[in-house]
Amino acid sequence: MRLKITGLNPLSGLVKIGGAKNAALKVMAASLLAGGSCRLMGIPKITDVNTMADVLRGLGATVDFQQDSSILIDPSGVNKLEPPEESVIKMRASIQVMGPLLARFGYVRTRQPGGCDIGPRPIDLHLKGFSALGAEIKKEHGYISAKASKLKGTEILLDVPSVGATENIMTAACLAEGITVLRNAAREPEIIDEQNFLNRLGANIKGAGTDTIKIEGVRELKATEYTIIPDRIEAATFMLAIAVAGGEALIENVIVEHQQALIAKLRETGMELIEGDNYVIVGRPVEKRLKATNIRTLPYPGFPTDVQPQFVAAMSLAEGTSEIIEGVFPLRFKYTEELTRMGAKATVDGKLAIITGVPGLHGIKLEAPDLRGGAALVLAALAGEGVTELKGLKHIDRGYEDLPGKLRLLGASIERTGIRKELQAG
Ligand code: UD1
Repeated sequence: MRLKITGLNPLSGLVKIGGAKNAALKVMAASLLAGGSCRLMGIPKITDVNTMADVLRGLGATVDFQQDSSILIDPSGVNKLEPPEESVIKMRASIQVMGPLLARFGYVRTRQPGGCDIGPRPIDLHLKGFSALGAEIKKEHGYISAKASKLKGTEILLDVPSVGATENIMTAACLAEGITVLRNAAREPEIIDEQNFLNRLGANIKGAGTDTIKIEGVRELKATEYTIIPDRIEAATFMLAIAVAGGEALIENVIVEHQQALIAKLRETGMELIEGDNYVIVGRPVEKRLKATNIRTLPYPGFPTDVQPQFVAAMSLAEGTSEIIEGVFPLRFKYTEELTRMGAKATVDGKLAIITGVPGLHGIKLEAPDLRGGAALVLAALAGEGVTELKGLKHIDRGYEDLPGKLRLLGASIERTGIRKELQAG
């Protein structure tokens, strides 16, 4: 399947943001700890959620997607302690079941997750955390196992504030004996969401959102209902769609606090912004070019690495030169090769990209290299003269709930094509 985008249509209207991918996947994994069936609301309709559902089903849990877009997860049938290999290959977040399985069943085994297109992605910090809690870690022939008859609370200091390691250790420590103090923890909002979910199950966790999280182990957890927070990366992508294409939009279901790094930068570029209680209004008159500005991606509350590619798409059209430093994933500039083919001026040297803005881009045939790089190319195509055909839509569908449909509602000329061809190809 491909996307066909005809550029140079300014956007206007209202768009509603869905639930956060990176919270939904972790809360789904954490529901393995529940003492009964949990109802999760605000789960986005994205393929990564389907993959996590496959992981949970592969372990023996029941996962039911409901008519009202909630999902029911019942972990009482879990009878396998190894996430399906094909899911681990497809989606790295599959390894977030490790903490819950280890906590509840005292054992987990997984294929070593690979690196990916944005750079090496080790899990040493996850494993160091499990080991500090008393698990015995074994690595053989590309598989990793962790085993413990009873985990024991302890002090853990993360070498870098990894989001996944913070969450995996937090879930592992929930049922441990005694208190775990996790220092230099990541502070991303999705970690607060996971803490809130786990506490609703009966866990005793404090401090998520700060760099020190204290987890007091409890004997067992119960079931609950929970609504996932809105997706800050989806919201940021739409704010940047307006920056790129021009026009004005009200973006609804936004936790404005989560957007502060982007809002500050967009103000530097001359964008007009109004911050509401659960919305933002963003605007740029089409005839007014953005001003170039620099960013450096950092762990939260710094500028999010997941918004770097979309921001670069905007800077490729700004007046002046921007320096973009990628401080989280060193190889996250792959998409700039495609952007350059559209007429952007970008030079990349390791973690640094220098973007010299051009007045316009042109539509061509492109391929999305990864999820956020793909979103950046969609945005660039909105400002491209003529037609862009984008392959690799599967990357975008992993993390965006119908990005083309939502952009179309704002007035973009964008459609999916080639379904028949795909089906014929099998
Ligand atoms: C999560 C997000 C991803 C986001 C990233 C950073 C999910 C599903 N994904 O990924 O969208 O871009 O946070 O905000 O929530 N590291 C180690 N050892 C480890 C773990 C990580 O060295 O054991 C390093 C990584 O190589 C990277 C940095 O820590 O350089 C941050 O990675 P991490 O925060 O763990 O990202 P993820 O949790 O994989």
